[in-house]
Amino acid sequence: MSKAIIEIKDMTLVLGGRTILNIPHFALLEGQSISLMGPNGAGKSSLMLVMAALLEPTSGTVVYFGKQAHEQSLLNLRRRMAMVFQKPMMLDSSVMENVEMGLKFRGLSRRARERQVTPWLERLGINHLVRQRARSLSGGEAQRVAIAQALVLQPEVIFLDEPFSNLDKGTRDEFKQDIGSLLRENSITTVMVTHHIREATDLTDIIYYMEDGEIISRQVTSDYLAVDEFSRQG
Ligand SMILES: Nc1ncnc2c1ncn2[C@@H]1O[C@H](COP(=O)(O)OP(=O)(O)OP(=O)(O)O)[C@@H](O)[C@H]1O
Ligand SMILES: [Mg+2]
Repeated sequence: MSKAIIEIKDMTLVLGGRTILNIPHFALLEGQSISLMGPNGAGKSSLMLVMAALLEPTSGTVVYFGKQAHEQSLLNLRRRMAMVFQKPMMLDSSVMENVEMGLKFRGLSRRARERQVTPWLERLGINHLVRQRARSLSGGEAQRVAIAQALVLQPEVIFLDEPFSNLDKGTRDEFKQDIGSLLRENSITTVMVTHHIREATDLTDIIYYMEDGEIISRQVTSDYLAVDEFSRQG
């Protein structure tokens, strides 16, 4: 049976006096790839931030890789996960500098950084943009750069918040396939937010529907790994 990478129990998140999240139980298993869907303001991005240990819940427990956040080094924990935000933020420097930033923090030499970054730029079709200033990129190009930035860190879990929202339909279909195979080949556990059912069914195994801060239903879109969780919950 796969182990839980993230397990949430009786968790609430209250912001500005309002309950933004109320999740009695939720588990993300190793190797799983899931989507969060639901209307604007349902709490999808907030739930992702909690799962990425970037936002502390108001009550309840969240267990990351078998331990709660305060039982492990937060820095170390965050290194195992990467997030692509709904609105990617770029430093006002080149694409290369943006993508290699995380590796620089990890103390890799310039040559080692380039060696790791280049294959991802190639895979994502943005190698020709490497010297361009990141803030001058188009929306779609910026999304590719943001994904490269996350993948170069070789995370065990990746959180993608509406990763294809700025892409035209042709680019979207092509990019979706690229990302799908990239994530599968590297067996990265994936959590994606999307408003498109097609993206969710094509790229992920389970869709969780959210409304008003709660997970209201779940749809299994492939039998891959989903059985585990059924047996676990009995
Ligand atoms: N810091 C905050 N203070 C108060 N309310 C907040 C804060 N952050 C988020 N919210 C509220 O929490 C709710 C959930 O927000 P969230 O961004 O998680 O929604 P979402 O499902 O990602 O929506 P969208 O589809 O529009 O991206 C929203 O009503 C939002 O206004
Ligand atoms: Mg959101």
